[in-house]
Amino acid sequence: MARRYTKGGDLNYWSAEYIKTFEFMQKLGVPQKSEMLKIMINLLTFRKAKPRFLEIGGGLGAFSRMILKKYPEASFVFLDGSPEMILNAKKRLSKFKSNITFLQSDINSTDWFNGIKGSFDAIVSSWCLHYLSDNRRRPFFKEIYQLLKPSGIFVCSCSIQPESKKFLSLYNDLETYRIKESFMKMGVEITEGQIKAMGDKGHSKARINPAYFDEYLKLMKRAGFASSGCVWKYLFNAVFLAHRVK
Ligand SMILES: C[S@@+](CC[C@H](N)C(=O)[O-])C[C@H]1O[C@@H](n2cnc3c(N)ncnc32)[C@H](O)[C@@H]1O
Repeated sequence: MARRYTKGGDLNYWSAEYIKTFEFMQKLGVPQKSEMLKIMINLLTFRKAKPRFLEIGGGLGAFSRMILKKYPEASFVFLDGSPEMILNAKKRLSKFKSNITFLQSDINSTDWFNGIKGSFDAIVSSWCLHYLSDNRRRPFFKEIYQLLKPSGIFVCSCSIQPESKKFLSLYNDLETYRIKESFMKMGVEITEGQIKAMGDKGHSKARINPAYFDEYLKLMKRAGFASSGCVWKYLFNAVFLAHRVK
């Protein structure tokens, strides 16, 4: 997490080979992911039976499945930049195929939303927006705002840049301890140096580029959202909620 890759993520990272280990790596590398997803699903409280959703960076559909279980009649646009992710998500979400339109698109392109028609009750994103490039961040939040219905909401979880070098080192230590413990439970001995090298390798390959916590809040405010806030935070991870109108 020490370095930031200002040009944003590399979509080649999400290859067929990587996907084989994706769920294991997410469990290992994203602390409290299931808690994070539970919080996000609980923020979706529509009374209507058929809300319209857009999910950005849907991956293998972990969050999509939760949403479609809660709203089985929802209409759903599933967007991801990786053709391999979409291929796999289509299989995993086949039960909901009549609800979903799949769209391959790169949110770091200025025309990423061209294939999307209409507006949404909710735009959601789990663990993807830290792949935005520096110069796409500001326009992206405006584009999200414009794709929402007036009463629409935006719910996202993403990685955030630690508050200072001191916090960076503290978070890294806590993470190393947690990862070491997970390996120990699997009966695998691993050194702190190996854990750090693994993290650095992953970050530089994926080119993760998280913004600071307050930067995300400013982006939402500048985009026009009437209210926005962080509803949950744990080390490098946060869940944000924004309402288009009050
Ligand atoms: C860490 S995975 C998260 C997947 C899923 N949302 C979850 O929580 O399990 C990040 C996802 O974002 C997608 N992604 C990364 N950069 C992207 C980009 N520039 N445009 C669209 N999708 C992107 C990847 O293909 C991958 O599926």
